[in-house]
Amino acid sequence: MSGGNDDDWERRISTAAVHAGEMHDPSGSHIDPVHMTSTYVFEDSEAIRSWGSGETDAHVYSRVGNPNRGALASKLAALEGFGMEEPVAAEIFGSGMGAVSASLLGLAGAGDHIIAQSVLYGTTNHLVNEVLPKYDISTSRVPLLEASLLEAELASKPNTKVVYVETPANPTMSVVDIARTVEVAHSHGARVVVDNTFATPVLQRPLSLGADVVVHSTTKFINGHGTVIGGALVSRDPDFIENGGGALVRYMGAVPSPLDCWLTSIGLKTLPLRMREHCANARALAEFLEAHPKVETTHWPGLERHPQHEVASKQMEDFGAMMSIELGDFESASRFMDGLSMSSLAVSLGNVDTLVQHPASMTHRLMTPEDRKAVGITDGMVRISVGIEASEDIITDFDKALSGL
Ligand SMILES: Cc1ncc(COP(=O)(O)O)c(C=O)c1O
Repeated sequence: MSGGNDDDWERRISTAAVHAGEMHDPSGSHIDPVHMTSTYVFEDSEAIRSWGSGETDAHVYSRVGNPNRGALASKLAALEGFGMEEPVAAEIFGSGMGAVSASLLGLAGAGDHIIAQSVLYGTTNHLVNEVLPKYDISTSRVPLLEASLLEAELASKPNTKVVYVETPANPTMSVVDIARTVEVAHSHGARVVVDNTFATPVLQRPLSLGADVVVHSTTKFINGHGTVIGGALVSRDPDFIENGGGALVRYMGAVPSPLDCWLTSIGLKTLPLRMREHCANARALAEFLEAHPKVETTHWPGLERHPQHEVASKQMEDFGAMMSIELGDFESASRFMDGLSMSSLAVSLGNVDTLVQHPASMTHRLMTPEDRKAVGITDGMVRISVGIEASEDIITDFDKALSGL
């Protein structure tokens, strides 16, 4: 990895991933136990009084809080806030969409406006286009949140409360300049939310670039092993986590199970190690695909000809393990996918094994063909989540599948 400005950051974030948020259970258990309980017992009515008056802290009911959820929140907050002076807080949700919804509903209400970039994960796209307007929250799109266009949109919509960013974006891999977006949004009093699922805090830390809120589908690289659906909301404003968007986890009930939090915490310990392998494999595969005559285009921000390569180099430590390729049409994309043997055909991403999916018929099928075309999601596009298998084996699998075209 490039290592950003601080050569030592990578080793130190590895230490934080292993040690931050660990509970150190009084039993002496080396690994945190899983607290599979719905409710908690108070010793006596004095303990209830002291908790109720705020003199002591206590777990009461697992929808409100649970030790495993708290431990995962602390670990993730330590990583997203790595190197920052200000405190960073997090809340864990039962899915990435739970966290995305809470970020938007926690910052905007009836009569407010939200501006988002054109390309978003399919379900977030549906939330922004179809669900929020039902609650009188209007939305509009600005391609790549390009500064002068964003400036004009903010000026014409003074009720804008949120500018929503997903970078790199699913599935086109376009990259939004976070610091520039923050500068423009803040000058109009809007908050900036960044979906950091593709990059993870190992590669990109939006809060340190000025963003107000980070959301994650922890289902992906954070857990890393494909065992859990989960999400997270992270903010530099502890009150937003305690009483704003974060509190929606308990009011809307989008809670994760303690076991899921425990599995995710275990996965998170190896995130820096896994991202190093994911990124190195992605580079090898992207260079192979870029040179392959059957591949029309390879979208990966690490390639110099990627239109936002410079922005990605500035704000990311490395370029991640997500990419998409253009194979021309649906028929070629299908034949390619049917020719793979080691890689799996599946939605989701960020697992240790290589996953391949077809956005137009899978993750982004709810969009109309016209809407997909307008944001660059073609019928011939295949999205790849590069795993941590030996890079030669991934390339051999892809080479074989491409030779059938
Ligand atoms: C970028 C991004 N954000 C959010 C989500 C939603 O996460 P979840 O499926 O955990 O609800 C996804 C899911 O694929 C995603 O790719």
